[in-house]
Amino acid sequence: MLAIPTASSDHAAQPWAAQFASRAGGMVASEIRELLKILARPDIISFAGGIPDPALFPADQFAQAYAQLFADPARRARGLQYSLSEGDPALREWIVAHMAEQGVACTPENVLITTGAQQALDFIGKLMLSPGDTVIATAPTYLGALQAFSAYEPHYERLRLDGGNATPAHYLDSARAHGGRPKLLYVVPDFANPSGETLDLAQRRRLLELAQGTGALVVEDAAYRQLRYAGDPVPPITALACELGGGIEGARSVYCGTFSKTLAPGCRVGWIVGPRAVIEKLVLIKQAADLHSGTLDQAVIGDVARACLADRLPVLRDAYRRRRDAMLAALASSAPAGTRWSRPDGGLFVWVELPAGIDARALLPRAIEEAKVAYVPGGAFFFDGGGANTLRLSFSLADEATIDRGMRSLMALVTEVAGRQSGEAGSASAGAGSLVAGAALR
Ligand SMILES: Cc1ncc(COP(=O)(O)O)c(C=O)c1O
Repeated sequence: MLAIPTASSDHAAQPWAAQFASRAGGMVASEIRELLKILARPDIISFAGGIPDPALFPADQFAQAYAQLFADPARRARGLQYSLSEGDPALREWIVAHMAEQGVACTPENVLITTGAQQALDFIGKLMLSPGDTVIATAPTYLGALQAFSAYEPHYERLRLDGGNATPAHYLDSARAHGGRPKLLYVVPDFANPSGETLDLAQRRRLLELAQGTGALVVEDAAYRQLRYAGDPVPPITALACELGGGIEGARSVYCGTFSKTLAPGCRVGWIVGPRAVIEKLVLIKQAADLHSGTLDQAVIGDVARACLADRLPVLRDAYRRRRDAMLAALASSAPAGTRWSRPDGGLFVWVELPAGIDARALLPRAIEEAKVAYVPGGAFFFDGGGANTLRLSFSLADEATIDRGMRSLMALVTEVAGRQSGEAGSASAGAGSLVAGAALR
């Protein structure tokens, strides 16, 4: 039986464990990264890694942009030199214009270029979190955000936007009980990783009320915002925060953007937009961490964005929309009763709840060995436990026919296990239309 690597610590490092800072205690390898190591096998259809399709990278435009930069002595010299911690001025101007299109009026002083959105999350955690402070986040949430924030030893509280006792007073009390204050309200409001969900306008407004009532800063992780395949865009939370606060300087929100999903993640270029008082401190953190993001990559990504991003987006959206549709159609025709799944309006992920009692982690070795399909067990995305019967599927890498084949194969396995668990004789067939499709989650 295939052993799925766990996010366990490295034995060779054990002798040092007593010397590590307390914050290292919560640092474990990402389950997803561990999983990706065993997925190089060509016989496996991977729905695990949420990475963009390399066939959709504008590789020729990158080659041209690098060549043009190196052909120009002045630009070449600048590109190979140290530069500003805040980031490339021309790129920050592009971001100012891009943010204005989204309803966020700002100036270059409100923009910090980061080494991907991932670094933005780390820096925001470093700036805002003392040990014991509270981060309010959805469960499930983006695993990379949990990894970034956890280094600063916070307490996590579940974000609930639809009623219940999740009032500012509730969060303030529980934060106090854990020895800190509510500091961050972290959300991926558009086509979230991993749930695929999008917050509607009313939810975004409630989030800002919660920020107001708790004193926390909203961290709007907009990694997938530009990958919308259906429905109308909802304004960024940061745009609503600007309305409420009379402009970016009064906004209770920072916006984390990235070129990773739209151009190429290898360049590692992202950005934070927020009030100057926050950005200025983040610039100091940037200086201490790595001085600045790569000068060459910033210059080139700016050139490529200006040259082709607007034309590329429809191509990306069309390709990913077709893959999403293939995955949803395969689920509708082959998932056994009791299975529920999200219908994302964009992004790269479908979130699945298996019939009660099926443990997605325990099923994974059989999924890989028998169904020849990999996914990420959903439990990895919960900071407070739970989600054992959930899994995340990414539709970004495979073509439609492969997605259809992989999903049918996976659902045949789920059907067999569900049938056995419910004591039915034999296992159900996975033939299209022969099963009761699960209800869609939104
Ligand atoms: C929600 C979310 N935020 C941030 C990131 C990190 O993106 P970047 O490549 O810009 O660091 C990812 C990457 O998968 C993501 O899914």
